[in-house]
Amino acid sequence: MPGFIPFSRASLMLDVVAVAMIVVIPTMAWSIYLVKYKQKYALHKKIQLGLGIGLLIAVLLFEVDMRLNGWRQYAEPSPYYGNWLTPVLWIHLVVAVSTTILWIYTIIAAVRRFVKPVQPNEYSPTHRRVAKAAAMGMLFTAVTGWVFYWMAFVAEGSASKDVANEPPLTQNSAKLSSPQSAP
Ligand code: HEM
Repeated sequence: MPGFIPFSRASLMLDVVAVAMIVVIPTMAWSIYLVKYKQKYALHKKIQLGLGIGLLIAVLLFEVDMRLNGWRQYAEPSPYYGNWLTPVLWIHLVVAVSTTILWIYTIIAAVRRFVKPVQPNEYSPTHRRVAKAAAMGMLFTAVTGWVFYWMAFVAEGSASKDVANEPPLTQNSAKLSSPQSAP
């Protein structure tokens, strides 16, 4: 199903996840602000749990969609297809998978150690450390995801045409090594 972002070739589910990441980052920043400067511990817990569950559902739906429909057909016109796209996707996947594991751990550990009423306790220093890494991971996941999205589904240009017009590598190297092609 075609997506709704006007300047993009991506499918609906890819667009949903790209927009979800735009919503997640400011919401997470607001939640950290609330706990750090306003001591709103219970509200911080609610927001982080909501983000965690919402993201898990989005990721599961996204994975099903990728298995069923894939993404490559939308990325083929990209000038980065077949060159930079795969390394960028790998960087994004490594960051995204480790961040998912870290978020699950952060949330489960926090829920178990900050029992009601939610407030600072002896687990605070550990939570602050682990949760900061989890938050940085989410930011990096979003940034690498958007970079991949732009390269795969928004970028268009001459590079792919240049590659398409170039003679195949074997022909090219044969030409270079052939004595007739010397100036
Ligand atoms: C992945 C999810 C979460 C992230 C990214 C996160 C992030 C953070 C961060 C960065 C801080 C430190 C703020 C500062 O610099 O003072 C913090 C503090 C805190 N968080 Fe979370 N949090 C998460 C989940 C939770 C959950 C589920 C709970 C409750 C069950 C919770 C309870 C608290 C409490 C009580 C503090 C205050 C600790 C203190 O300053 O003594 N957090 N959180």
